[in-house]
Amino acid sequence: MKIVILGTGEVCQVLAPAFLALGHEVAVGTRDPGATRAGNAGYRVLAARHPTLELADFRDAAGAADPTGLVVNALSGPACVDTLAPLAADLAGHVVMDVSSPFDWSREGAVLDPVNTDSLGEAIQRALPGAFVVKTLNTLAAQVMTDPDAAGADHTVFVSGEDGAAKERVGALLRSLGWRDVLDLGGIRTARATEMMLRMWIDASGALGTHLLGFKIVR
Ligand SMILES: NC(=O)c1ccc[n+]([C@@H]2O[C@H](COP(=O)([O-])OP(=O)(O)OC[C@H]3O[C@@H](n4cnc5c(N)ncnc54)[C@H](OP(=O)(O)O)[C@@H]3O)[C@@H](O)[C@H]2O)c1
Repeated sequence: MKIVILGTGEVCQVLAPAFLALGHEVAVGTRDPGATRAGNAGYRVLAARHPTLELADFRDAAGAADPTGLVVNALSGPACVDTLAPLAADLAGHVVMDVSSPFDWSREGAVLDPVNTDSLGEAIQRALPGAFVVKTLNTLAAQVMTDPDAAGADHTVFVSGEDGAAKERVGALLRSLGWRDVLDLGGIRTARATEMMLRMWIDASGALGTHLLGFKIVR
């Protein structure tokens, strides 16, 4: 299927090669393609390895998405709503796999915002009322998103979203990446739970001295 990744950071640089290896068509969105090609060292490495990877600005990338495929939101948390809201018409009818985190790094202590009574997943769904937003993979470092065994154990990846078919499409992609324990938490409101797990992720990562970790729901 065609997968459009909005964002050119570490998550894009890990997801794009994994999706290409699975035989998907991948395109990437950024603010300014020229600036990204010139100034984003990680993206340059990705593009050199995959010369056919398309790069366009966010509007053109969203406009070229395929409703039978997937759009991945891999934008910096504070930029998500303002960047995605103008794309609402382009993304109506599309499945948007949201991996973003609501960290506001400009505030001391990596503050989560929104939190408790709202989530970034819900805010994105409100900004894209015609899209089917599925929150997932946000409880994992980028490297573990596409390689669950990198964290050394059978662990859980969570999905949250309103639309069952959209969650099935995302779940199939997750299983093709090697995920065995895909836990559907329910509607997009449950993104609050996985976004608030990020405080635990930071402290567990600090205590263990590694990003290669995951959460397991035992039952
Ligand atoms: N890195 C990880 O291991 C990891 C793990 C779990 C979740 N996440 C979450 O996944 C998302 C992507 O993370 P990342 O590490 O790949 O990259 P990031 O540095 O958090 O975000 C990079 C992307 O955000 C865009 N961006 C930044 N400021 C912007 C602004 N003011 N307006 C519009 N776009 C803006 C950049 O656009 P340009 O392309 O134009 O520069 C770039 O595409 C984040 O929400 C992050 O919290 C990351």
